[in-house]
Amino acid sequence: MALHLGDVVPNFQADTTTGKIDFHEWIGDSWAFFFSHPADFTPVCTTEMGRTAQLNDEFAKRNVKPIGLSTDTVEEHLKWIEDVNDTQNTTLTFPIVADAGLEVSRLYDMIHPGESTTAAVRSVFIIDPNKKLRLTFTYPMSVGRNFAEILRVIDALQLGDKHTIATPADWEVGKDVIIPPSIDNDKANSMFPQGFNEIRPYLRTVKVDS
Ligand code: BEZ
Repeated sequence: MALHLGDVVPNFQADTTTGKIDFHEWIGDSWAFFFSHPADFTPVCTTEMGRTAQLNDEFAKRNVKPIGLSTDTVEEHLKWIEDVNDTQNTTLTFPIVADAGLEVSRLYDMIHPGESTTAAVRSVFIIDPNKKLRLTFTYPMSVGRNFAEILRVIDALQLGDKHTIATPADWEVGKDVIIPPSIDNDKANSMFPQGFNEIRPYLRTVKVDS
């Protein structure tokens, strides 16, 4: 099933390293960073899991709950987490879904046969508290994800929701943002009393609080 931005993501029940979950219930009023990786006891995945655990406070600050997935069992995940903690100098506490039967991987289209028919590629789903898919990207097995980018896109989505703005190329927290074309200048004047910069009628930038 193709997942589209703005869709409510499919719910599922699954075993994880922190017990059985109903995915939508588990998300609750938080955002979710749901990500798959090919396999336990593999090098790139070990660094990604470690990085996610190290960024625990950064995710919590943004009201985001991380949750991993691979097509391994809970027992394998739990044994591997010991290695992740040892080698990446961290304490991994977020759940990892055990999807040995590939049910969730198939539901979320994480199996890309050109890469593997039995293991998930590196998918990312950023899901909001309404359970809507807000952003997704997919990396091949051979390329580890950039976690600064994952936090950056979460910041951009949350700032967009707060101020009804868009973010320009290479935006980072603190930089000017963009007033979308759907907001005319009269509306922009009332929404942004601090004033804005009209570079072109369709290109207007503004400073907002984060
Ligand atoms: C890794 O995590 O290192 C990895 C897993 C599957 C294929 C390639 C790399």
